[in-house]
Amino acid sequence: MPVAEDLDAPPRERRLSLWRDGIGDGAAAHEHRLLSAARPALPLLNWLGQFANPIMRVPGLGWITADPRTARALLNDPEHLTLLSEGGVGHLWAQILGDWVHDLFDGPGHHDLRTRSRELFTEKTSAAFVTRAWGARLAEARASFEAGEELDLADLSRVLVGHMVVTLLGLPIESGRGDDAYREIFATGEQLASIALGTTADTTLPPQKIAVAREIVERLTAHIGDAFGTAHPDTIIGRCREIGLTVQQTQGLSTLLMVAGTETAASAMARTAALLFDSGEQHRLLAMPQHRDDAIREALRVTSPAPLIGRSVLADLDVAGRRLRAGERVMVLTWTANNLAGPYRIDRPYLPQHRQLWFGAGRHLCLGGPLARAELGAIVDLLLGDGRPFRVVERRYGRKVLIPAYSSLVVQKDRGPRREE
Ligand code: HEM
Repeated sequence: MPVAEDLDAPPRERRLSLWRDGIGDGAAAHEHRLLSAARPALPLLNWLGQFANPIMRVPGLGWITADPRTARALLNDPEHLTLLSEGGVGHLWAQILGDWVHDLFDGPGHHDLRTRSRELFTEKTSAAFVTRAWGARLAEARASFEAGEELDLADLSRVLVGHMVVTLLGLPIESGRGDDAYREIFATGEQLASIALGTTADTTLPPQKIAVAREIVERLTAHIGDAFGTAHPDTIIGRCREIGLTVQQTQGLSTLLMVAGTETAASAMARTAALLFDSGEQHRLLAMPQHRDDAIREALRVTSPAPLIGRSVLADLDVAGRRLRAGERVMVLTWTANNLAGPYRIDRPYLPQHRQLWFGAGRHLCLGGPLARAELGAIVDLLLGDGRPFRVVERRYGRKVLIPAYSSLVVQKDRGPRREE
């Protein structure tokens, strides 16, 4: 269906087009199965989200919205909404890291941190991080993939994200263990993030979960104190020092990067590959390589790897004629809001009402957006850089995971002729 038709269609038809493709083997069908494998309640919540336009109250959950404008207005309203009290991710982290999180994650310290860290991930530094962290491993993968070998892209994504964490945080790594050492780093980030599993309705953690999370944070950030004074400015620790952050701020930010930028990025990488194949859009991208960046933006929109953003209401406010009261919870359904705009199309124009809702909005807008885009660019180049299409040979959806993702996605080059020779 052409782009303009999708967006101009009446809301009811847009809703139908979102779910119509849910049966069969199309791109949307695989996305639906992936979401329900991760968290069986997700498709139901997303389906409900179609009616949350602009906002709706769900007993036991709180307010939900899948309207991009309402979502942005809420995420841009720190006077009335917070992620620190119960219902927000900051509440989880304060229990693990300590009360200083209140200042650093959502208080005046957060503003200071964001202002200072503005230059951490620009297009340029992100491209450099990707080359440095991935160059060798990616070249190896590309050589065997282009030679016709099968490649498990979901596994490779986890390994590559492990490499990125090691590079960014300057983590000491055991040599001689190959990919396994990096898989382990990824799994540690996953474990830390999984602490948040099951917190959709309640963000108060039991003591044993707090203890496990603290032990992981210690493992990941203990080296920072010693490395802080001498870390190279090309590492995040060195850059944090150069921009005037304290050791504690650097440890907090490193933990956040680990949690926010591992599973989300790996999820997006394999799902982008699946989307390009399932939708057939890889052929259009090969024919119109000028749409590479649009294809990446679209993949982020359609996959929306962080499908929900939670906040709690600090003070009563009115939204679209409904009164939200202090203490209630609000959930922005990013996946639904983004997918209501239509299916994956590499040449879909920029959607001004959505902007980059897959990265959130307002003061907590994803810090690693340029890095995520650079990572996805490298994956698209790996898949299609030689001008030939690929196919998905086999796939497995990740079960009971916080961020919906493929546990395995085996791809292989099609055996057709090269396009440009
Ligand atoms: C496709 C990949 C990614 C997606 C979809 C994504 C999505 C998001 C979203 C939705 C938020 C806002 C959460 C909220 O408002 O509660 C966020 C915040 C954040 N992201 Fe990302 N993210 C991705 C990759 C990354 C990467 C690669 C990094 C860095 C290595 C990163 C670092 C952060 C940080 C530090 C925050 C917190 C910002 C703050 O609270 O001020 N993210 N991300």
